[in-house]
Amino acid sequence: MLQIDRINVKYSDGNQALDQVSLSIEDGQTVGLVGANGAGKSTLLMTLVGLLSIETGHILLDSIEINKKNLGQLREKIGIVFQNPDDQLFMSNVYDDIAFGPRNYGKGETQIKEKISDIMHRLGVEHLRDHNSHKLSGGEKRIIAIATILVMEPSYLLFDEPSSFLDPKTRRKLMELLKGLTMTKLIATHDLDMALELCDKIIILKDGKIFAEGKTKDILTNEALLLEAGLELPFCLQRVNL
Ligand SMILES: Nc1ncnc2c1ncn2[C@@H]1O[C@H](COP(=O)(O)OP(=O)(O)OP(=O)(O)O)[C@@H](O)[C@H]1O
Ligand SMILES: [Mg+2]
Repeated sequence: MLQIDRINVKYSDGNQALDQVSLSIEDGQTVGLVGANGAGKSTLLMTLVGLLSIETGHILLDSIEINKKNLGQLREKIGIVFQNPDDQLFMSNVYDDIAFGPRNYGKGETQIKEKISDIMHRLGVEHLRDHNSHKLSGGEKRIIAIATILVMEPSYLLFDEPSSFLDPKTRRKLMELLKGLTMTKLIATHDLDMALELCDKIIILKDGKIFAEGKTKDILTNEALLLEAGLELPFCLQRVNL
């Protein structure tokens, strides 16, 4: 279980990006983190993996408070897919990028190969196996960045805009894959249709604060609430005049 208790995060320029944020995520839950540009979604995800420090407050993972000393252990448990896939891919080819994490943890090459083949098959990207990671299209980079984290099988998965850049078919494959994963997931996204389909619970951030929290259907069908947070109803719930 992930528990966040009144955390404050300030950037070095004095920008208070998270202000008294508290939330809890039960094991196995899929939680959507939504909010307008600049609301603090990426800041929250980066704070959870220790890339940003909290000024005050507490973060507990499986009842253990996260601090500088146990950050290493934490990184084995939490995987993050960054908003920008270029932050995730740094090897010269796709296979080596996906194998990087498991190799670092001393996994055998045969086991790594099997795991990678399975994930690439499920994501429909086997043809990219020997491609240069830096020359992939935006969507290809995104899906390979996701594969580099899935291969590690962390207990907690944090996604920052996982469906951005993806074509409809690849987005669908990703959604089906995410539905089949039993680990706890926190998904920051502007893709409210995806959130509606995948998430048990939605948290809306606004100006670094928790603005609303509740069951997915209650939050994502509340047009007035969404408008106040700088959002709109999911497309599938909007009336379209053709
Ligand atoms: N390195 C930084 N230094 C100073 N301020 C920052 C930094 N990174 C982000 N911010 C600010 O912190 C606030 C939250 O940014 P964040 O990237 O967390 O928003 P977000 O909800 O992820 O937005 P988006 O939907 O555009 O990805 C914004 O006001 C942003 O300008
Ligand atoms: Mg962001």
